[in-house]
Amino acid sequence: MTTSVTVVYGSLSGTTKSIASRIAKRLNAKMVNIKNATTEDMENCDLLILGVPTYGDGILQADWEDKIDTLKSANLFNKKVALFGLGDQDTYPDSFLDAMGILYDQVVEQGANVIGFTDTEGFTYNLSTAEVDGKFVGLAIDQDTQSDQTEERIEAWISQLA
Ligand SMILES: Cc1cc2nc3c(=O)[nH]c(=O)nc-3n(C[C@H](O)[C@H](O)[C@H](O)COP(=O)(O)O)c2cc1C
Repeated sequence: MTTSVTVVYGSLSGTTKSIASRIAKRLNAKMVNIKNATTEDMENCDLLILGVPTYGDGILQADWEDKIDTLKSANLFNKKVALFGLGDQDTYPDSFLDAMGILYDQVVEQGANVIGFTDTEGFTYNLSTAEVDGKFVGLAIDQDTQSDQTEERIEAWISQLA
């Protein structure tokens, strides 16, 4: 059986977009900017991957904020969903990757089956709503301060998803 994967991402300055495209390439996935995403994009795949950077002091990137109703109106019941978040642990240690936590809470509320939790080891921060029971709820990427670890983190996560 082939698995169809869709990556929906939001990105202000392009970093999340570039990570989304690396992930999409590895998984042979369709890639959609949240700006243009439809409910069907989110529903018509076996695995839905959502990517979001954190802005403000722990809020969703603006396009995700604008289009959150598209996600809310998707039927995600029992659907496999994986998340990845971009953040900066040095400058924003009290809201590190919070936007990934916001999307996690949202999809869980919709009954999604979230896969791809990762270890918090190797990161230094105070608070993150993306941390649940000692794990990040998805792939954590910090291109601002730990870009040298990104490749390894992506590869490990992709093996885990498979
Ligand atoms: C104004 C501003 C606020 C930010 N706030 C947070 C934050 O609260 N938590 C966090 O982890 N990262 C925060 N970041 C870091 C971004 O999430 C990070 O640089 C990310 O890679 C940007 O992704 P993009 O290029 O796809 O927009 C912030 C960055 C900026 C410029």
